[in-house]
Amino acid sequence: MMKTIDDVAVEGRRVLVRADLNVPLDGDRITDDGRIRASLPTLTALISRGARVIVCAHLGRPGGRPDLTYSLAPVAAHLGALLGQEVDFPGDIVGSEAHAAIAAMRPGGLVMLENLRFDAAETSKDDMARGYFADRLAAPVDLYVADGFGAMHRKHASVYDVPLRCVSAAGYLVQAEVAALRRLTAEIQRPYVVVLGGAKVADKFDAFGDLISKADRILVGGAMAFPFLAAHGLKTGTSLREPGQLAAAVSYLKQAAPGQIELPSDLVVATEIAADAPRQVVAADAMPADQMGLDIGPASAERFAGIIGTAGTVFWNGPMGVFELAPYAAGTRTVAQAIADSGAFTVVGGGDTGAAIRTLGFDAGAFGHVSTGGGASLEFIQGKTLPGLAALET
Ligand code: 3PG
Ligand code: MG
Repeated sequence: MMKTIDDVAVEGRRVLVRADLNVPLDGDRITDDGRIRASLPTLTALISRGARVIVCAHLGRPGGRPDLTYSLAPVAAHLGALLGQEVDFPGDIVGSEAHAAIAAMRPGGLVMLENLRFDAAETSKDDMARGYFADRLAAPVDLYVADGFGAMHRKHASVYDVPLRCVSAAGYLVQAEVAALRRLTAEIQRPYVVVLGGAKVADKFDAFGDLISKADRILVGGAMAFPFLAAHGLKTGTSLREPGQLAAAVSYLKQAAPGQIELPSDLVVATEIAADAPRQVVAADAMPADQMGLDIGPASAERFAGIIGTAGTVFWNGPMGVFELAPYAAGTRTVAQAIADSGAFTVVGGGDTGAAIRTLGFDAGAFGHVSTGGGASLEFIQGKTLPGLAALET
């Protein structure tokens, strides 16, 4: 069993909490604060127990150097407002200002470090580079708490190397995520329907190999659908496509049972990703060469909803279209409604998918579990070892 924050003394101690505060931003306005709210139970427990809490996290993919468009400053300000207490934001990670802020902390105080990915060592593939950075992160702390479930599939310094160097425990969010997602790794109630979409296709495409052997039906929307439509010989216009996925899609379709992988048969297309662009619904085999698919069409959404209605278990990761823009949100809304209405055990995973259900006004209580992790939950349900969890168990 994993040690949790209930098993360790924290009073007066310097506790480094790795959270996943990778929230969507519009400029410096946070458009969905779900991941920040999900981090509150652990932070408030540590604060009320008199810990000195140091929060570290990443935001976006700044590429290993400081870039203020990815600063955690707005997140620190919002966290302070939610907690009703000052969050000290020194503006660096392991430099002298961070050290001074940490040294000045009182029990019950909270410091947030700047975006970990401003340092290339955080995400480095070189164990030495990561280890050196992890040493510096760990130096001023007495205890490490892993609570950033959404980043635990990354073998990054703050996720993997720091807990190898410190007394470590899981936070409440990680505990809750693991307990819920375990229900998708054994004795799954069938039919097991997996719904996959979203834009980070490269991160998730590998999952098909495993899901074909586990799920009864796999419903594919979002940008994830285009390599499969192309594998059927269809033209995908100017839709988001990444190289190298066509061959994999062809082989997944061969491995899958007939009808196991369901693709959109109609799409909402437009010339550009814009709410005011002229748009139309077309059959998937009649995509205009100069247009891109931005949502699944109404017939596909209804067909997907019907399949979801028969499920015993549903796992959903990735929106069906560009839900952030109202004209392309219908497919995601129809799928979300079907999942909310179903009597199955349902898990909705991912930063974008969680944001989608909240933005579209769904109550999180309508789903069995809303995971803060997209890639992380997808790897967990495949039975893969998440580096962040492995480091806690050693
Ligand atoms: C996420 O948003 O999926 C997590 O915060 C991990 O971010 P990453 O995909 O950039 O590693
Ligand atoms: Mg994600």
